Amino acid sequence: MQKVAFVGYRGMVGSVLMERMRAENDFKGFEPFFASTSQAGTKAPDIGGAPGQSLPPVADAHDFDFLSGMDIIVTCQGSGYTQKMHPALKASGWNGYWIDAASALRMNDDSIIVLDPVNRHVIDKAIDAGIKNYIGGNCTVSLMLMAIGTLFKQGYIEWMTSMTYQAASGAGAKNMRELVAQMKMIGDRSAGLLADPGAAILELDRHVLATMTSSEFETENFGAPLAGNLLPWIDAGMADGRTKEEWKGFAETNKILENTPPIPIDGICVRIGAMRCHSQAMTIKLTKDIPVQDISTMIAESNEWVRVVPNVRETVVRDLTPAAVTGKLEIPVGRIRKLGMGGQYLGLFTVGDQLLWGAAEPVRRMLNILLGRV
Ligand code: HSE
Repeated sequence: MQKVAFVGYRGMVGSVLMERMRAENDFKGFEPFFASTSQAGTKAPDIGGAPGQSLPPVADAHDFDFLSGMDIIVTCQGSGYTQKMHPALKASGWNGYWIDAASALRMNDDSIIVLDPVNRHVIDKAIDAGIKNYIGGNCTVSLMLMAIGTLFKQGYIEWMTSMTYQAASGAGAKNMRELVAQMKMIGDRSAGLLADPGAAILELDRHVLATMTSSEFETENFGAPLAGNLLPWIDAGMADGRTKEEWKGFAETNKILENTPPIPIDGICVRIGAMRCHSQAMTIKLTKDIPVQDISTMIAESNEWVRVVPNVRETVVRDLTPAAVTGKLEIPVGRIRKLGMGGQYLGLFTVGDQLLWGAAEPVRRMLNILLGRV
């Protein structure tokens, strides 16, 4: 049986991966091991196995000998860990498979960005060619491709902009807490004015702003208020004025699809006060004037998770929102319509759970591909 180590299984993405693997009854047909940078020696997590089934205690994620004995290493530990351990393992001659949720190895020539409902052909070709590194994509890119990958694959996209509305979870667990703490402080401090129906709205507004800008407002992680606000900057800046998150939209999409020449993709990535679902508004220049109905049908039929949402208010506000999608694998796509610029200009909006298809799910499925189960 193949030996598979899970590193970073207690963090946010790792926990979602464990939940999904338990839900799908994935922990069978291989020998699982758990490793941690901080919990070595503790009891392995519950994997829903047979009663009495015992797993070895959690290993030290920096234990070279332990890692060297693995056939597959699945890590959700982050890029720092990958940068430290992956080159050292490779240099020692280890030739197992490395499946990673972090970005460190994504753009390397000997790595494949995995999103199998969209690029299974690329993954299969890489396995046959002996490639060993399979890396989950940027969450925004993966969610966008789950929604409209088919339009790229059929050659219907000349260029595209994606304006994003990204949830707090993309920045980390601490950021999610900070967002809620900010919401709470605004609520707590506005309680008196809210309870008084006669209170002037502009007074309430001033009060909220005063709370958001007070020195007691928690902004340690975001560096600014997010509740009641938005932050049009995600990740590091680049020399050309883009942020790294914006660059990934171009670089990773074209790598996932093996587009040559690359298709121009750009936009502005914005952090908003949603918890764990990223949303995106696309403007697409089509290579030809295709009827909206045909586009909707193509999208609806492209994979089993995508859902086309009819372009009417009731369904849009019910189904095409972060609150509607949280915790679900479904990828709704809506507001599909031709833009005023002409028949080749398409607008649409999509939402996806950043921790599921945006992070854990492509990694979970890649493990199953390597184990020969899908
Ligand atoms: N970089 C993304 C974000 C998260 O900040 O929302 C993961 O790809």
